[in-house]
Amino acid sequence: MPGPEGGPAPATSGRRSCMASTPSTPSAPPVPSAPSAADPAPPVLEVRDLAKLYPLTRGALVKRQTGAVRAVDTVSFDLRRGETLGVVGESGCGKSTLARLLVGLERPTAGSIRYRGEDIARLSGRALRAVHRNIQMVFQDPYTSLNPRMTVGDIVGEPYEIHPEAAPKGDRRRAVQELLDVVGLNPEHINRYPHQFSGGQRQRIGIARGLALRPEVIVADEPVSALDVSVQAQVVNLLERLQDEFGLAYVFIAHDLSVVRHISDRVAVMYLGRFAETGTGPEIYDHPTHPYTQALLSAVPVPDPEAREGRTRILLPGDVPSPADPPTGCRFRTRCWRAEARCAAEAPALAVPTALTGGAAHPSACHFAEERAAV
Ligand SMILES: Nc1ncnc2c1ncn2[C@@H]1O[C@H](COP(=O)(O)OP(=O)(O)OP(=O)(O)O)[C@@H](O)[C@H]1O
Ligand code: SF4
Ligand SMILES: [Mg+2]
Repeated sequence: MPGPEGGPAPATSGRRSCMASTPSTPSAPPVPSAPSAADPAPPVLEVRDLAKLYPLTRGALVKRQTGAVRAVDTVSFDLRRGETLGVVGESGCGKSTLARLLVGLERPTAGSIRYRGEDIARLSGRALRAVHRNIQMVFQDPYTSLNPRMTVGDIVGEPYEIHPEAAPKGDRRRAVQELLDVVGLNPEHINRYPHQFSGGQRQRIGIARGLALRPEVIVADEPVSALDVSVQAQVVNLLERLQDEFGLAYVFIAHDLSVVRHISDRVAVMYLGRFAETGTGPEIYDHPTHPYTQALLSAVPVPDPEAREGRTRILLPGDVPSPADPPTGCRFRTRCWRAEARCAAEAPALAVPTALTGGAAHPSACHFAEERAAV
C-alpha cells in the first residue's frame, strides 16, 4: 500500500524495545535506554525529569499562588524509532498532560524533551514548529475532535495550512487522498463530513490527519477508548500496520492494561503524575512487582474461566488523591495494602530491585517490590 509521498522510510528492523523510567525525585539521575545491538542509533525522543505544574491561585484582583497541581512529576523515558511505549493509569494520573507536553500543546514546568538530541522545551516560534512537525497527536474522541463543519479533505489537510512546505497547494488534494487510502478509507469520500462516517472511520480520519506531516512520533491519547470493542481491534491493527510501514514510534495511552498489551513493546504504569513501574510486556503482565500494577492487572477481564477462578481481585480502597496535595513518600501509600512506615517517609525511586531476578528484574518504584502473578 502506498505511503504518503515522501513519507518516512519503512522500518527495516521491526520492533525494538524502549526504556522508560521515572526517578522519584527531580534530582534522581535519569535511566537512559541502553542502545540495542540491532539499533545503535540514539532514541528519537529522550524525556528527562519532565514536570508540569498547574498553579492554583486565589484572589480576584491580586492573584496569589496557593499551590500547584502536579499533573506530571519527573517523568523520564526514551523512545526509539519504530517502538511503542504504552502508558497506562487511572483517570487524572497525568496521561493527557504528558501527551500535550510531548506534542507541544503545553510547555513543561521543568525537565527536557529532546527530539533527535534537540531540547524542544527550549525552542520557540519557527524552530519549535519545525520540530513539532515530527511529533503528532491522535486524540481520544473521534466524535468531538473532528470539526463537524469541515470536510474530511479539509480536516486531513489542515496541518498543511501550518506547514505549507509539507505539500504545495496544488498537490494537497492528491496528498490527502493518498492519506485516506493509507488508513483504509475511500479517497472518493474526501468531500464528506465527519457525521457521514462511523466512529472507527472517524478515528481513521484522525489518524490520517496525524500522518499528514509524515511524523516520526505519534502520541495517541486513548485512541480507541471511545470505540466499540470490535472496532478497537481494527484501529489498533491499523496503527500497527502503519508503524511497520513507516517506522513510526508511538506513545500509546490507555486506561486499561489490556488495551496496550498487544501493541506495546514496553509499558509504563502511571500513578499520580509518576511512573510506578516500567518494563517489557512480559515483564509487566507476567511478573508485575508494584502493588498498583498488580491491582490493575487483577481487574483485567480474563476470557479463560479456569484462570478467572484461580485469581484474586485486588480492590483498592478510596480514590486517587488530589495531585495538588499528593501523599508524602510513596504516592500510592494511601491505597496500598503493603504500606509500612517507611513508605510515608521516603519516596521510592524507580529502579530495578536488586533482590529480584528474571522477568521480575525491571524498574519498580516500590520499597517492597515483589513478584505476584496477577493474571
Ligand atoms: N489546565 C489545567 N489546569 C489545572 N489542572 C489541570 C489542567 N489540566 C489537567 N489538570 C489536572 O491535572 C491532572 C492530570 O490530568 P490529565 O488530564 O492529564 O489526566 P488523565 O490521566 O489524562 O485523565 P483521564 O484518564 O481522565 O483522561 C488532573 O488532576 C487534572 O485535573
Ligand atoms: S513503597 Fe510502600 S506504599 Fe508504595 S507501593 Fe511499595 S509497599 Fe506500597
Ligand atoms: Mg486523559
